[in-house]
Amino acid sequence: MNPIKHVAIIMDGNGRWGIKKKKSRNYGHKAGLKTVEKIIKISLKKKIPYLTLFAFSTENWKRPQEEINFLLKLLENFLKNKLEDLVKQNIKLKIIGNRSKFPNNIKKIINYSEEKTKNSNRLQINLALNYGSKSEIVDTIKKLIKNKKNITQKVISHNLYTSNMPDPDILIRTGNTKRLSNFLLWQLAYSEIFFEKKLWPDFNENDYSLILNKFKNIKRNFGKI
Ligand code: IPE
Ligand code: IPE
Ligand code: MG
Repeated sequence: MNPIKHVAIIMDGNGRWGIKKKKSRNYGHKAGLKTVEKIIKISLKKKIPYLTLFAFSTENWKRPQEEINFLLKLLENFLKNKLEDLVKQNIKLKIIGNRSKFPNNIKKIINYSEEKTKNSNRLQINLALNYGSKSEIVDTIKKLIKNKKNITQKVISHNLYTSNMPDPDILIRTGNTKRLSNFLLWQLAYSEIFFEKKLWPDFNENDYSLILNKFKNIKRNFGKI
């Protein structure tokens, strides 16, 4: 049985879900937060140490400003309302991505949330915000060259946003689309990938548990036989 140390999720399909419900794309984003809570609950229950959630990509700035503003507000409120709960549940929050592009109020709340949860050690949630894998890799290599470091696979791994974490065992993408959309390209080299037809707000505890159970019985070769 494969142990599960790290699950990464591309939470896709919120906008389409909102439209399907004859409401707005933003209505779908709000509903998607409920799924986030369900997934955190199961991750705790299954004792998974790392959960990485793709919430906003470097390409998502191309969306209408009104949708971007709504997503930022949702993030701000989520952190404000849930921070105490995260601390209580011994959850550590880490933001991966380039935070320099965010407005000051968002920078402040993400820094504060990281600081408040930094000693937690039950589950680490990496929230990917303004995250793009290609720019992560380029920035890392630039930094290594500047510091005259040897460029090896190990050194690169240790200098990505995900340094000191195991690579994801599992990648889940909801929303019936089979692509990676610039997410963790380096780290996913040997992950088991599950593409889910359901839109993110419809994805539930049972769907998640089924994937975790399926994963346990996969023969992972890593090149061997
Ligand atoms: C994923 O849902 C969440 C974000 C990218 C913020 P989408 O907003 O991409 O929803 P669809 O794919 O358009 O339905
Ligand atoms: C990927 O979803 C990013 C997040 C889930 C945050 P997108 O909806 O942005 O991906 P594409 O554009 O359909 O590939
Ligand atoms: Mg999408």
